Amino acid sequence: MMTSIIEQLHENRDISDADLKLLIETNRYDRELFQHADIVRKEYYGTDVYIRGLIEFTNYCKNDCFYCGIRRSNHNLERYRLSQDEILSCCENGYKLGYRTFVLQGGEDPFYTDERIYEIVSEIRQKYADCAITLSIGEKPYESYEAFFRAGANRYLLRHETADMEHYTKLHPAEMSLEHRKNCLKNLKKIGYQVGSGFMVGSPFQTTECLIEDLRFLQQLEPAMIGIGPFIAHRETPFNRFKNGNLQLTLRLIGLLRLMFPYALIPSTTALGTADPQGREMGLRAGANVVMPNLSPVNVRKKYELYDNKICTEEEAAECRACLNRRVSSVGYKIVTNIGNVRTLREQHPPKNSK
Ligand code: SAM
Ligand code: FES
Repeated sequence: MMTSIIEQLHENRDISDADLKLLIETNRYDRELFQHADIVRKEYYGTDVYIRGLIEFTNYCKNDCFYCGIRRSNHNLERYRLSQDEILSCCENGYKLGYRTFVLQGGEDPFYTDERIYEIVSEIRQKYADCAITLSIGEKPYESYEAFFRAGANRYLLRHETADMEHYTKLHPAEMSLEHRKNCLKNLKKIGYQVGSGFMVGSPFQTTECLIEDLRFLQQLEPAMIGIGPFIAHRETPFNRFKNGNLQLTLRLIGLLRLMFPYALIPSTTALGTADPQGREMGLRAGANVVMPNLSPVNVRKKYELYDNKICTEEEAAECRACLNRRVSSVGYKIVTNIGNVRTLREQHPPKNSK
């Protein structure tokens, strides 16, 4: 009997560009794709879902990405920064709620010099030796990444956004470059971070070919985590009239990622939950195995509005935690609170056929 494209992808973790194009452009294979993706996620991770506590500590940004609501040219936004003590108290609260990974995310804010970041990370590391510290603060020189690593950060999230050079220039001002971003990712890996990358689905001017390039780039990079979410327009950006990324296409890509990268940590993102009230549950069923609830103080949540109508801006961290517990278990998975390192996971749950 002839094997289907999905079976081939499951078996070989790869298919040709032509077959990828076919899968991306129709919904014909979705059912089979999600079934296989769920088999693979269960083989590698069972029903475990990892939680990462997100601390959005600054909405100042020196960059001007055309899609982003906190870009420097948005003057209709009240800016904020969290102090070191405020960040620490988010961690304290998160620790009590069972979080063992803190993700410090922000715009590229020059106020947080390398010294300040070093101090913040060192203090978190000293107080929470059993936790992973993830940074997501954009493009920095090699030496800065190295210093943060020495301070105790061990993971870094930096989406490449798009691996297509021409597409990249349509999403960013001329002073930013894909080459520089890719180089940052290379440096982060070299230093020893567990790296997360990813892209938006349905960003303006994106084609199927761009998405295929994204997948090919990720195959080269082999990141530990792959974050994707639909593009959602923000009213105060140059892309305010573009339509939002498609939910079904985003789910399809999550399924594809699970088959191509069985070990990857794949979050079911807030953008998915914004695109549809059940978006995060659908993401889990399509192959995602991470959720990233918010630990930021409620009074700043609305100000970190990357796109219109971002969800979870009014709930306290404890409410978000409880809400996600319900959501995750409603689709048959279970939140686990261990640290969830790719390497240790690989050792604990080797794939069936591994030697
Ligand atoms: N400054 C850091 C960086 O550039 O990696 C982290 C913060 S940045 C706001 C986090 C991510 O938000 C980006 O990588 C981008 O993919 C996503 N994002 C920004 N604007 C978005 C939009 N309009 N729709 C969906 N995702 C968006
Ligand atoms: Fe925040 Fe549901 S995850 S309210």
